[in-house]
Amino acid sequence: MLKVTNLSVKYDLSDEYALKGVEFTVQSGERVAVIGANGAGKSTLLLVLTGVLSHDSGGIVIDDIVLEKKTMLELRKKLGMIFQNPDDQLFMPTVYEDIAFGPRNYGSPEAETEAKADEALSQLNISHLKRRLSHKLSGGEKRLVALASVLVMKPVLLLLDEPTSFLDPKARRRLIGVLDALPQTMIIATHDLDMALDLCGRVILLKEGHIHTDAPVNDALHNADLLEECGLELPLSLQKR
Ligand SMILES: Nc1ncnc2c1ncn2[C@@H]1O[C@H](COP(=O)(O)OP(=O)(O)OP(=O)(O)O)[C@@H](O)[C@H]1O
Ligand SMILES: [Mg+2]
Repeated sequence: MLKVTNLSVKYDLSDEYALKGVEFTVQSGERVAVIGANGAGKSTLLLVLTGVLSHDSGGIVIDDIVLEKKTMLELRKKLGMIFQNPDDQLFMPTVYEDIAFGPRNYGSPEAETEAKADEALSQLNISHLKRRLSHKLSGGEKRLVALASVLVMKPVLLLLDEPTSFLDPKARRRLIGVLDALPQTMIIATHDLDMALDLCGRVILLKEGHIHTDAPVNDALHNADLLEECGLELPLSLQKR
């Protein structure tokens, strides 16, 4: 489903590579957590995979299609991305318009669009926000609306950057339940290692822009020394009190 080879990225005006020689493959239906300390390159990786950010070298193949300028539109239909900052995602006046934007863009008739939007809103328990102004929502509400605007498109590959940040415990639990019930392939960049334990089968641990470890979730997240070496700690649920 996804094959990344020798991927390197350097931001303009930066001396350091944000990603260096990153290689991995993801099978259809797999859920992979991308973890690592602040600045390790998690968001950069997701932005490159969506084509928002271009890469200096290496290749990305999604569903046998090489990511390049001329395939971008075709691939965008397959991808759903949640940005780390929900303010980067919501740009329409109201919640409904933000969620309807994607389906409308692909020519969905209004009645069908509204039915899809209602389903996504109710899935995340936020139907009451439908007529609200997007920019006046709280951080957690924005996060959930951003998720609804992505889920409504039913993308085959979900790229989620800190999906649980800003959420209260109940909304976080609900979101984990919603994601767990979805069949899609997911790559989840997160510091919420307990969510990674719940949802993901595999962990890619980034350190200073390269893959330090790519391992089954239980091997990586139970290994305190490994996590420590990469600037992290054991998931809260595994820490001794
Ligand atoms: N627009 C940018 N211009 C220049 N450097 C950037 C830019 N965005 C990120 N960087 C740098 O690239 C590196 C990787 O950043 P990235 O945002 O991918 O880290 P991250 O793992 O997502 O961190 P966090 O846990 O804080 O979200 C960091 O050193 C960061 O300072
Ligand atoms: Mg980030």
